[in-house]
Amino acid sequence: MSQRTLVLLKPDAVARGLVGEIIGRIERKAGWTITALELRTLDRATLETHYAEHVGRPFYEPLLEFMASGPSVVLVVEGERVIEGLRTLAGPTDPIAAAPGSIRGDFGTIVRENLIHASDSEESAERELKIFFP
Ligand code: TYD
Ligand code: MG
Repeated sequence: MSQRTLVLLKPDAVARGLVGEIIGRIERKAGWTITALELRTLDRATLETHYAEHVGRPFYEPLLEFMASGPSVVLVVEGERVIEGLRTLAGPTDPIAAAPGSIRGDFGTIVRENLIHASDSEESAERELKIFFP
């Protein structure tokens, strides 16, 4: 079942020089292909649309501020079960709860600065791909 998913390497991943490491993990998965890749500083309007489900939560404003604080890497990845697969590669939202071996588990400690976004379902992937590549 080939799918497409939207991945963001967040400003902390770029600032800490972890882009190569993270992209390497994605590239090494059998049959997955990176079909778009761009360094982009995300603007407020894009982030508001992307994170609409979280409006009103206490972490929403600091999250948007962090996500706009520097460049991110925006990727489209295609391949076998890539939506679920990238969520597994990333690990759970809280990096301290994320197992070593996952990206968040290996490199993160702070929930807000958890290095990577990956679409969480087919519906989310479709919605998010349109936001970042209209
Ligand atoms: P969420 O969609 O729940 O997590 P995920 O990125 O794993 O899909 O939340 C979006 C982002 O919001 C999350 O990556 C980091 C940030 N966040 C916080 O800063 N504090 C929180 O308590 C939560 C739940 C998320
Ligand atoms: Mg989410």
